[in-house]
Amino acid sequence: MKNRAAESPGSMQWWKEEQIRYWRETTDHYLKFGTTIQAGILCDEDSEGQSYDDNNRTILKRSGLRDGQVVLDAGCGVCGPGLHAAMHVPGLEVHGVTLSPYQAEVAQKLIADSPAAGRVHVQAADYHELPFPDRTFDCALFLESAGYSFRLEELFAEISRVLQDDGKVYIKDVFCRAGEMTVQEWKQIDAFRRIYAQPTPPMQDMSAALAAAGFAVTSALDITPMIVPRPREREFGLPRFRPFPAPPIHWGEIVAIKAAT
Ligand SMILES: C[S@@+](CC[C@H](N)C(=O)[O-])C[C@H]1O[C@@H](n2cnc3c(N)ncnc32)[C@H](O)[C@@H]1O
Repeated sequence: MKNRAAESPGSMQWWKEEQIRYWRETTDHYLKFGTTIQAGILCDEDSEGQSYDDNNRTILKRSGLRDGQVVLDAGCGVCGPGLHAAMHVPGLEVHGVTLSPYQAEVAQKLIADSPAAGRVHVQAADYHELPFPDRTFDCALFLESAGYSFRLEELFAEISRVLQDDGKVYIKDVFCRAGEMTVQEWKQIDAFRRIYAQPTPPMQDMSAALAAAGFAVTSALDITPMIVPRPREREFGLPRFRPFPAPPIHWGEIVAIKAAT
């Protein structure tokens, strides 16, 4: 029997399949620039440079990961940032999940070749339905990954389930600007969402979904001035990409803590 959901453009199942296709088509292209698949380098007052290593170091510091913690890298790509974290924090244990079976395969090889093998694990899984027991993690990282969710409240309820009491969520992402938009801006965000297979919600929606799932949002910052964009897609030579003159997007960082239950 045919899968009717998969045939229906815009349905949840259709988007999920589109996202898996997107990563199968583009991951090797992103890998030409390294194993961190992010569109912007985060630089704060302590950052030394503007490489992906500097970005990962800055995120490691700002997320506050510590020796002995168990971390979920939710939407881990090929585990570039997870491997970086494990290499720099000796007792850290990292579990990555990616929707893309291809990325998980690439990540397995990178992990096997790394001195951090044994403390970094990866599997293909949907972060809305995690294959981990309750209260497994001290922290959940979403590095340019939470914005792919169509079910933010369900997502953070699931994250709350797998986090310890007082566990932390650290999010760095691209968000849709809130407020009124011109027709041109609507057209651009609509095209952006389709090209990147990414709903790109406003930051307020993500904070509200965290609060609805019982998190205390301790910080929600517009970090656009701290980002050095690294748009690589035009260099891939793939027809799906096109430039956007002034897309109504911005960068944001959210930190939230799970209330004790
Ligand atoms: C822009 S990449 C970022 C990858 C990685 N965080 C990094 O910094 O290199 C977005 C990632 O989110 C993952 N993702 C999107 N939706 C997901 C879902 N429902 N479940 C698990 N991973 C998801 C994709 O598979 C992809 O690995």
